Amino acid sequence: PGTVKVALLGAGNVGAEVARILIDHGGELAARVGAPIELIGIAVRDVAARRTVELPAGLLTTDADALIDAADVVIELTGGIEPARSRILRALHAGKPVISGNKALIARHGRQLQDAADAAGVPLSYEAAVAGAIPIVRPMRDSLAGDRVDRVLGIMNGTTNYILDQMDTTGAQFEDALAEAQRLGYAEADPTADVEGHDAAAKAAILASLAFHSTFTIDDVYCRGITGVTAADVAAARDSGYVIKLLAVCERYADGVNLRVTPTMIPREHPLAGVHGAYNAVFVEAENAGSLMFYGAGAGGAATASAVLGDFVSAARRLVLGGPAQVAEPHAQLPALPMDEVRTSF
Ligand code: HSE
Repeated sequence: PGTVKVALLGAGNVGAEVARILIDHGGELAARVGAPIELIGIAVRDVAARRTVELPAGLLTTDADALIDAADVVIELTGGIEPARSRILRALHAGKPVISGNKALIARHGRQLQDAADAAGVPLSYEAAVAGAIPIVRPMRDSLAGDRVDRVLGIMNGTTNYILDQMDTTGAQFEDALAEAQRLGYAEADPTADVEGHDAAAKAAILASLAFHSTFTIDDVYCRGITGVTAADVAAARDSGYVIKLLAVCERYADGVNLRVTPTMIPREHPLAGVHGAYNAVFVEAENAGSLMFYGAGAGGAATASAVLGDFVSAARRLVLGGPAQVAEPHAQLPALPMDEVRTSF
């Protein structure tokens, strides 16, 4: 296409940030894509609802299907199973690349959606569905495709990591730390999914499917949340040199894999013990690569929007250039700075 027309479904925490970045930095992204890009509309349930980020009223619509039909690329950030699944299938069946951040949907129907994408020969990308800004879906799917993953250990829920970290470092009560996590925008609309471990379990199912080249759903993940973790548990762990984290473990055994999300005592010297606040980390153990750790912001609108837009640029480039994603020519050469203008700070 001359111009890449983008349909955005959903204007929640992440969707609104994606819209903002597309509007504010559309020119820069277009240069990377190699063609003009246009956000043609944002499908929402209620056009008049109050939003954290102000969006151009003219872009808002309740007619998601018409928007999908008019687009070249569809970004789905509505969450939940339906109507998200039908809308994604509508786009894929019409041969349109889809980017989704919908972990609940991918963790349940990822196989069906991937089959539809494969049949249409278009990408289905969902980097934002696991661990926010952290690139882990593509490394797992592409970079490690030639290796054999033995185990994935993940702190993949920012809300619970924030809560446990506050309990560990300040002695905060569970309820106060949860309220603060909600205020900071980390928690799901219903924080039950966070504190009961369901959110982390969905992410574990998605990563395990990629890591072990199999199809797992959230039902394959044993799940226990942090509501039973007390201040006394946290203190006892600290006294014996451990920290309690809500850990997702995806582990290969001789005859299968085990997937679980449970509060876990981690030795203080393990790299995962140093993951504080709402940060996430995924520690991968592979036969040939050895141990790798991916670390960063696992929640938050702008951080997660970064992962969405990475997928978008990649899909749009493919659309413009044809074939697999390629790196476009640099459009603006940045100067290399001399040593006296730089320093390393931590
Ligand atoms: N509620 C999630 C979290 C958001 O706290 O990590 C990112 O999936």
